[in-house]
Amino acid sequence: MLSRFVRTMSSFTTRVIPVDPAQFSFKSKNTGEAIIRSTADEAAIDQAVQALRAGEAVGMPTETVYGLAANALSAEAVQKIFAAKNRPQDNPLIVHVSSLAMLEELLPNKTIPPQYIPVLDRFWPGALTIIVPSASIVPSAVTCGQPTVAVRFPSHPVARALIAKCGFPLAAPSANASGRPSPTLASHVYHDLQSRIPLVLDGGPCDVGVESTVLDAVRNPPAILRPGGVTYEDLKPLLPNLQVYQKHFTDKQLELAPTTPGMKYRHYSPDALVVLVEDTVPDFDARCAVELDALRQSHTIAKVGYLRTRSEASPDEADLSVAMGSSADQFAQALFRGLRSLDDQQVDVIFVQGISEEKEGMAVMNRLRKAASRIIAQ
Ligand code: TXA
Ligand code: MG
Repeated sequence: MLSRFVRTMSSFTTRVIPVDPAQFSFKSKNTGEAIIRSTADEAAIDQAVQALRAGEAVGMPTETVYGLAANALSAEAVQKIFAAKNRPQDNPLIVHVSSLAMLEELLPNKTIPPQYIPVLDRFWPGALTIIVPSASIVPSAVTCGQPTVAVRFPSHPVARALIAKCGFPLAAPSANASGRPSPTLASHVYHDLQSRIPLVLDGGPCDVGVESTVLDAVRNPPAILRPGGVTYEDLKPLLPNLQVYQKHFTDKQLELAPTTPGMKYRHYSPDALVVLVEDTVPDFDARCAVELDALRQSHTIAKVGYLRTRSEASPDEADLSVAMGSSADQFAQALFRGLRSLDDQQVDVIFVQGISEEKEGMAVMNRLRKAASRIIAQ
């Protein structure tokens, strides 16, 4: 335990460098080779490439959430990620590639398992991570000694161009301090990792807002281990037996493994208490009022925050309300930003109006159930 804290860590003046995704275009769907139209953006990418070549960890935007990237083929560089995030050493990382050829390099015999081919054709680049057998080139610092490795080809122009320019794949977990909500703005990364990393590329807000879907189609039947940006409804037509972990099946072995996303470790937690009200509960505001009274028996609560899909009553003047939009994808996009902004305003409790588990709603409710200290279902 102690070894996690005594490891020496350099102190940096963290630079946040703006990049404009609109300045990037790609030679084809299957590559990260970019045409960058502005010299400022080209220079920003070059600075990040330099830091990554020197074995440092840097913050980069992706379409899901910001990632903390380092050379995936260097055990030493990957250690910088664990140190900066204070991430438990047995929680494996996703390797980000910018072409199928780069994926092949990570596989035994350079062979993509055939069941993934139509899936990758449809959803890469994008918010989908696949679990594949791992070749020995991938350091065990990345896989944490598992025989498999998680791989994703992100669609965000900046991430995609950055990986291609490096010429090596980038290991990148979400760029939050371990246990905190994932970052969807460069300022979130700066808040959590300031002075721990040399730079963050600021590509603006993330489109998807929740992490990628983790799909394991090496197991039979194929399973979504973590719901995310690519939905169950999206994948099901291509993988008819598809199951969702914890919804359609559970597995004692998976339960104990740190590889199962979000199982072993506390996740997505703001400082405030989070009370999740499921969407099956009829009157959100009335129910929150009852729960608030009950909470006040045991907690001092000065400030209350709400994440709402619908405005049913005007909240107390001292309360803070964040509108999450009316659709599941809007809710996903605003989720971590909402939790973090209420934390910044030092609310003591956050009541969240849950949504149904359709489409992106499955990922949203998965993250909320992990963040919640209390779930109200009826
Ligand atoms: O959208 C995303 O996936 C973001 C961006 C930065 O790409 N990354 C991300 O990484 O969410 P992270 O480390 O926060 O979550 C990766 C998850 C972990 O929970 C881990 O358990 C799982 O992927 N994972 C990694 N390797 C695995 C493996 N070999 N088998 C099963 N799960 C694995
Ligand atoms: Mg994470």
